[in-house]
Amino acid sequence: MTLLGIILAAGQGKRMKSKLYKVMHPVCGKPMVGHVMDILDQVHADRKVVIVGHGAEMVQGYLGERAEYALQAEQLGTGHAVLQAKDLLQTEEGTTIVICGDTPLVSAETLQRMIEIHIAEKATATILTAKLENPTGYGRIVRDTGGNVIAIVEQKDCTQAEQAINEINAATYLFDNRSLFKALSQVDNKNVQQEYYLPDVIGIMQKAGQRIIGFCTEDEAEVIGVNDRVALSEAEEYMRKRIIRKHMLNGVTIIDPANTYIDKEVVIGEDTVILPGCSLRGNTTIGVDCIIGPHSEIIDTQVGDLVQIKQSVLSEAVVDNECAIGPFAYLRPGAKLGKRVKIGDFVEIKNASLGDDTKVSHLSYVGDATIGKNVNFGCGAITVNYDGFNKQLTEVGDNAFVGSNANLIAPVKIGKGAYVVAGSTITDEVMEEDMAIARQRQINKPGYAKKLRNKMQSKKNNTQK
Ligand code: UD1
Ligand code: CA
Repeated sequence: MTLLGIILAAGQGKRMKSKLYKVMHPVCGKPMVGHVMDILDQVHADRKVVIVGHGAEMVQGYLGERAEYALQAEQLGTGHAVLQAKDLLQTEEGTTIVICGDTPLVSAETLQRMIEIHIAEKATATILTAKLENPTGYGRIVRDTGGNVIAIVEQKDCTQAEQAINEINAATYLFDNRSLFKALSQVDNKNVQQEYYLPDVIGIMQKAGQRIIGFCTEDEAEVIGVNDRVALSEAEEYMRKRIIRKHMLNGVTIIDPANTYIDKEVVIGEDTVILPGCSLRGNTTIGVDCIIGPHSEIIDTQVGDLVQIKQSVLSEAVVDNECAIGPFAYLRPGAKLGKRVKIGDFVEIKNASLGDDTKVSHLSYVGDATIGKNVNFGCGAITVNYDGFNKQLTEVGDNAFVGSNANLIAPVKIGKGAYVVAGSTITDEVMEEDMAIARQRQINKPGYAKKLRNKMQSKKNNTQK
């Protein structure tokens, strides 16, 4: 059987009051339309068509090859939107899923069960519904006394009696493909909003004597349609809980789920502990047996096993096994740490690789650099990589020692096993195993401090008289 998918994503989403098109608003780090596309992938839809209009370029740019596209130039309603897929799909025999780009929480499991029932029961339409305490804003499911679905009525078109119905249309449907396009051609726009409503096909099919199933989910959360920012935050909360639960069931300890933020694509290994206040974003992966947090933000970063990260920010970094980072470290794009590297407090690393066992323990900046293995960067030592015009490279060989508060003025090389004396400003290459000292010699003036103090004190006494 051919399984087709249509995602409605052409609306602007006025109620969001946003420059960003509604379906591109992220939930747990991923645009809503991306979540919906994931659902269609998970049920193995053979063809997927996204109806685009507002923000078409952006939506298409984001989803790329994952779908085919049909343009709805003018947004005349959800029924009109589905009609735009007619040229692409009308000759197909099969089942068509129609789902909205603003319902990111529908689960693939629910959709899969709907598909099974729809096929087993030879239904023409199967509608996902839910019973809500507050159904305001949603289309209502009208059933006859026998419990059969006979129509869907939009909130704005409801009679008082219909408004009291608490079973709502989640706007996820399965249709017999041919019957869908046939019924759509009969939908008109004689309603309060003067739109061509997709739900009207249900009434049309019912009158034609076709079988319609209302599939009511127990999980109210999954039907959330995000029309405004309030619903967006609700969707975020539910999605967040769902993601965190999945990690916990996979063997990750999450100390404070209410204060932990994990994007959908993040991967975390077993026996890793996530302490309160962490944000794990984008394409981040974290290995096994790590301790992350408290209060760390990790974005698009690969972290190995047995790593500790305290109160730090990491973005587009790569961290190998057994590293210790923080508190208060900042790893910026291109930071690449070998095994057992230690990055201490107030250290910033950018576009720099550090070999195994290297330590940068406090108050350093390492940018545009290649640092070897087992190097010690003293407190306050920095690479001076920028002259106001160009970024220059620093190289430090294995086993070198860079003393505290040294300035390595790039471009510069420090050879293997070399020793840079504390406080040096290094402008020239230091060869292997050499020592470099580049600072003023110290002069001591015996008894001078006392002399100076006496002089200052008598001056002060004179002015006070
Ligand atoms: C819709 C349903 C309602 C249901 C609710 C569930 C209709 C008429 N109503 O209402 O029964 O309870 O979803 O969330 O279908 N879109 C287009 N082109 C258009 C209009 C809309 O592509 O011309 C897209 C939107 O981008 C959106 C989706 O269709 O992703 C749903 O449209 P929206 O305006 O949000 O419908 P609701 O009022 O929420
Ligand atoms: Ca909606």
